[in-house]
Amino acid sequence: TMSLLSTPAEVRQFVREQKHLGKTVGFVPTMGYLHEGHGSLFRKAAATSDCVIASCFVNPTQFGEKDDYVNYPKDRLRDTQLAESCGVDALFLPEPSVIYPNGEQVTVKVNEKTDVLCGKSRPGHFDGVATVLTKLFTITQPDRVYFGMKDAQQVAIVSSLIESFHFPIELISCPIVREEDGLAKSSRNVRLLSEERREASEVYRGLKFGSELILNGEKDFDRIIRAVRGYYEKHLTLGSVDYIDVLNYPELTRTKEMMSGRVIIACAVRYLNARLIDNITLDCD
Ligand code: PAJ
Repeated sequence: TMSLLSTPAEVRQFVREQKHLGKTVGFVPTMGYLHEGHGSLFRKAAATSDCVIASCFVNPTQFGEKDDYVNYPKDRLRDTQLAESCGVDALFLPEPSVIYPNGEQVTVKVNEKTDVLCGKSRPGHFDGVATVLTKLFTITQPDRVYFGMKDAQQVAIVSSLIESFHFPIELISCPIVREEDGLAKSSRNVRLLSEERREASEVYRGLKFGSELILNGEKDFDRIIRAVRGYYEKHLTLGSVDYIDVLNYPELTRTKEMMSGRVIIACAVRYLNARLIDNITLDCD
């Protein structure tokens, strides 16, 4: 049965025992309210590491002033059941005061890849993510960490974090899990009103529309952006577009005037009580 851990000391002891048995340790950090997107990471971790640790921790420092920290959905009983059924061996459920003893005494600042996409609309967000992940990586000492491409900018930044701080950790990125109509699964989807939920499948369809233009040979970044924007103007009436961008991935810049190599089409759409993000990455050569 799955171990429930609440302190760094408990996690360290668990990891020490596993490593003593010669096992590789995989780690999946989450904020809980788990769904099949998280489940796919757990299963991938269970298939490729001997022992899987997951964490559920709603990290206060990655939320902005008017963000949804206090209203972030929570159901730890369901989380525990889902994690166990997906092959998680130990679930770390720390209190904020354990992760942040005496508040933000020392933090991590991300200086690259943060001036675009979600970094632009959520200043400081990725500093909070990098800070908490530095703590969690240090506590869990994993051989591998598993992240979803749902948060593609986060994957790119975690890769920089691992490189910068020389964490001896392999980063595994996993594909986006979607609802049947294409909407990317998210803990925040429960906050969509029923009419918003019906419309929200258009968010992915707009990205698909853009990716098909690229696959058909369009190489002009701005033309793709305009086409997706046009699609949303026509198909979204309740949601408002926060951003649409097309960039090289994982650099998150335009490496050449005309598109080449791997690119990401990414967007964020705001509804009444939920901001949705989605993206498609593809090779355009
Ligand atoms: P959270 O939003 O809970 O997501 C945890 C992990 O699940 C992330 O790697 C995310 O990309 C992945 N994920 C979420 N929805 C997914 C989907 N539909 N398909 C595939 N993967 C999906 O991301 C965070 O938490 C936090 O920023 C965290 C890394 C835990 C730091 O606080």
